[in-house]
Amino acid sequence: MKRKRKTSFRFQPFSRKQKKLMMWWTDKSPYKDFDMVIAEGAIRAGKTIACIDSFITWSLAKHRDQNFIIAGKSMGALKRNVLEPMFQILTAKGIHYEYHMSQNPNVTIGTNTYYLFGAGNEASQDTLQGLTAAGAYLDEVALFPQSFVDQAIGRCSAETGDQGAKLFFNCNPGGPYHWFKLEFIDKAKEKKILVLHFTMDDNLSLSEKVKSRFRRMFSGVFFKRYILGLWVMAEGVIYDMFGDQHKAETVDRAYKKYYVSCDYGTQNPMTYGLWGLCDGVWYKVKEYHYDGRALGKQKTDEEYCDDLIEFVGKRTLQGVIIDPSAASFIAALKKRGLYHVIKAANEVADGIRNVSSALAEGVIKYNDCCVETFREFASYSWDAKAAARGEDKPLKENDHQMDGDRYFVNTIIKKQSGVWFG
Ligand SMILES: Nc1ncnc2c1ncn2[C@@H]1O[C@H](COP(=O)(O)OP(=O)(O)OP(=O)(O)O)[C@@H](O)[C@H]1O
Ligand SMILES: [Mg+2]
Repeated sequence: MKRKRKTSFRFQPFSRKQKKLMMWWTDKSPYKDFDMVIAEGAIRAGKTIACIDSFITWSLAKHRDQNFIIAGKSMGALKRNVLEPMFQILTAKGIHYEYHMSQNPNVTIGTNTYYLFGAGNEASQDTLQGLTAAGAYLDEVALFPQSFVDQAIGRCSAETGDQGAKLFFNCNPGGPYHWFKLEFIDKAKEKKILVLHFTMDDNLSLSEKVKSRFRRMFSGVFFKRYILGLWVMAEGVIYDMFGDQHKAETVDRAYKKYYVSCDYGTQNPMTYGLWGLCDGVWYKVKEYHYDGRALGKQKTDEEYCDDLIEFVGKRTLQGVIIDPSAASFIAALKKRGLYHVIKAANEVADGIRNVSSALAEGVIKYNDCCVETFREFASYSWDAKAAARGEDKPLKENDHQMDGDRYFVNTIIKKQSGVWFG
């Protein structure tokens, strides 16, 4: 059992929407016979706090000696986004709990046991299979594999208490053809699901200043999804927020530190971007773009190392960020012993959101010599066929400088505050 200094949640008034989420199962509620609640909508809207409070209160009021499921996108996300506030809420309410970080991590409260899962972990699904539960709380459920959600619902078969099992879900929106939208939100009426739509105005603890900062961070499809809370399609050009305001004159600046980010290709183009930090802004100082196929001559890893050394010149680098799949090039570069090699955080969806936010916030800028990058910005697009299947995916075209830029943002300047994704 883990012993931790217990901090207590500082409750502020709950909004009407939050109260509805916390009361839907109570005896006087018109929804008390529903099996499921879904809190969906904007980021930072108070969904998780109200939903976990509701789930724990319901489970303790209606059940004894039962098992429950609490799951997040990953174990890390679960600990950060759910367990931390949950323990604070329990402490504030004076409810004793024990956190067991065993092979099957769980929390016990009174006579109930709450098993903890990261939905992305294959191994955790095995544990899920053997369980009979009286309820489940799934945080950020639209990011889960559908199989995990179906499995969790199938596990909730305990016929105990006066209401039986119930499911508490929350998420931010994805595309209109996302399986969760089609199977749960669109079928809410027939499946007797209570859907509660949240925006930041449903979180009374956020100041206007904080809300307007969040609004500034997003544009295009991300604004519609994460601020307005709408299930809209990712279509057309991906970085539609990119404009002249992101371009800067190619002049000498007093850069404080440098990185290079690299998208490796032998058949496809090889790209380097030199990033320099000046006055709180990361500039793409210059680009390297070698298209072996177009030029009719492929380069070897050794030749690419030579080109990188020439590209960097006398500058001192903090590191070179490379996609971990470029194993041969990473080995060749390490052998030269000149630069610290950093494996790129290469998750696509998180990365694109983070680059979009970096552009919207003016955290990154581009010297006007980066002409290949500008060409790609104008044409790097969402895959319409994938969107029709409910997936957000970029087309694998005009994506070489874009991938390198994404590696840089997602590996080096990603914020961990929970506002930037991942
Ligand atoms: N009634 C409240 N009292 C105090 N703090 C609150 C209250 N409601 C929400 N908050 C705080 O507001 C912030 C956002 O709430 P929460 O994490 O529940 O939002 P969310 O809708 O789940 O956001 P996301 O979609 O980004 O996960 C958290 O820091 C949370 O502690
Ligand atoms: Mg949340």
